[in-house]
Amino acid sequence: MNVYKIISDNVKSKLMEIDGVADCLPKEVAIETPKIRDFGDFSTNVAMILARPLKKAPRDIAEMILPKICEISFIENATIAGPGFINITLKNDFLVTPEKYNIVVQKSEPLVIDMDYGSYNIGKALHIGHLRTTVVGDTFNRIARALGHKTKSYNHMGDWGRPMGLIIAWILEYGMPKNADDINVIYPASAARAKEDKDWLERAQKLRDELQSGNPECLKIYNEFAPMSLAQISDILVRLNILPFDENKGERLVAEYVPAVQKILEEKNLIVHDDGADVIPVKLDTDTAPMPPVMWRSSTGAQTYAAADLAAIYYRTTTDNPNDIVYFTDSRQNLHFTQVFRAAKMAGMDSANLQHIGFGTITGADGKPFKTRDGDVPSLGQMMDMVADSVRARATESGKELSDETVEMIALAALKFNDLMHDVKSDYVFDVDSVTQFEGRTGPYILYTTVRLNAVAKKAADMGVAAMADAGTLQAEERNLLLRVMDFERVLENAFARRATDLLANFTYDLAQDINTFYHHCPILRDDVPADVRGARLYIANVARETLLRAIDLMGLRVPESM
Ligand code: ARG
Repeated sequence: MNVYKIISDNVKSKLMEIDGVADCLPKEVAIETPKIRDFGDFSTNVAMILARPLKKAPRDIAEMILPKICEISFIENATIAGPGFINITLKNDFLVTPEKYNIVVQKSEPLVIDMDYGSYNIGKALHIGHLRTTVVGDTFNRIARALGHKTKSYNHMGDWGRPMGLIIAWILEYGMPKNADDINVIYPASAARAKEDKDWLERAQKLRDELQSGNPECLKIYNEFAPMSLAQISDILVRLNILPFDENKGERLVAEYVPAVQKILEEKNLIVHDDGADVIPVKLDTDTAPMPPVMWRSSTGAQTYAAADLAAIYYRTTTDNPNDIVYFTDSRQNLHFTQVFRAAKMAGMDSANLQHIGFGTITGADGKPFKTRDGDVPSLGQMMDMVADSVRARATESGKELSDETVEMIALAALKFNDLMHDVKSDYVFDVDSVTQFEGRTGPYILYTTVRLNAVAKKAADMGVAAMADAGTLQAEERNLLLRVMDFERVLENAFARRATDLLANFTYDLAQDINTFYHHCPILRDDVPADVRGARLYIANVARETLLRAIDLMGLRVPESM
């Protein structure tokens, strides 16, 4: 239930009943939260908007429409402020038991959304550069599903290009890796050698081309190596509590659709031969920045990165018929996606709205891409370990004993929440010690609040305290908390529409703060609290807990029993 929308719709339909006003109403009556809550829970400037068409002073209009607004069943009262603002206060009864008011909420049409995130490379350990695509992509997927949209998540694996040639060259020379640790060493080692050794590079390129054209020996190596690498990727995704991908369909599996796209490109005359390669010019007259053509096929005949993306778009649009295809990658791929989307449009393969969300970089305190103490790019496993170490150190410092599993859950929350709370487009500084703090805008703080509420619920059950909805005497902290809970749906809708998972994370923090303020001012199970007050407060705590747990689940966090 989006409470802003409900108020807006109800105010509008009431105003429609007033002669002469109906025709002048804006499409949507704007509802806002006043800076100072003392004067009302919400406010609207609709009287000011009406002033011009009605040719009257806003205050006079406010006075005229006020009685109508007060007729709305869930509104306690409305007052006029300043030059014509109208402040609205909701009934306590509505805050406590909104379901009694039978409000019909118009659900927006469910959309079909294809999502491309993760999209890892075979033979490379998942590293810090994959954190945001993984965490934000997963949470965005969960939000979309929670809102009733139909999503399909694609792991568009890098498993068919240059790196595969380098890996096969290495394995031909030194054999299959014997243990898990070796899997991710091959590619960097072979790539380093290719830098020094031109023959090696050419050999790798040739092997890539042979793999792509179905050479049995290359395929055999590929088929043995890829599952080992995938198993490792899957282990870390499990550790990060990421939903399984609906399709692990990457560069290799979309190769099948390249000929179909080729045909379309030829029919539309979009391919230009350029120095042995096939390219698709996508520059527009209006471009001021350089806009190189899309590399469709390399001069050696290899399938390119862009070709795989066009083939994937072909597959997704024809199979899923999605409304949107949303890509989550580092912003360094902005140009690539601009090019690919243009080519898709020129080819008429743009039945879906194609959208790329480009992330900023995770940096160290120096503003440069984050590195470990040894100066390496950390793998996601190393990042989790680093955060877990910091959690453990903190626990020891405060004399707490935490099980390994609890430490792991806190570390997960610390790492993910910190990633989610930042605007995806901007860079952010990663500081292990600050993300594991138990106070402030952190994952551990969110978990701590949840653990506390869970403990209250459990203790209340043990004591046989029953929750009772009672709007009799709501304290300010209780009203605030209930208003926050009511805002959850709107936050989810905005997070979805704006592809902004930080809205969810920051809402969760605000909710946790409101919960703790409530808990501080309104003790529940303390001896001196009368039974009826206790039941009413427990009811509110339960409502808040339910929302908090939903938010936590959408962020893919796990909650320990105690901490
Ligand atoms: N595998 C690529 C990389 O690690 C990311 C792929 C992103 N998705 C896509 N459809 N191009 O850089």
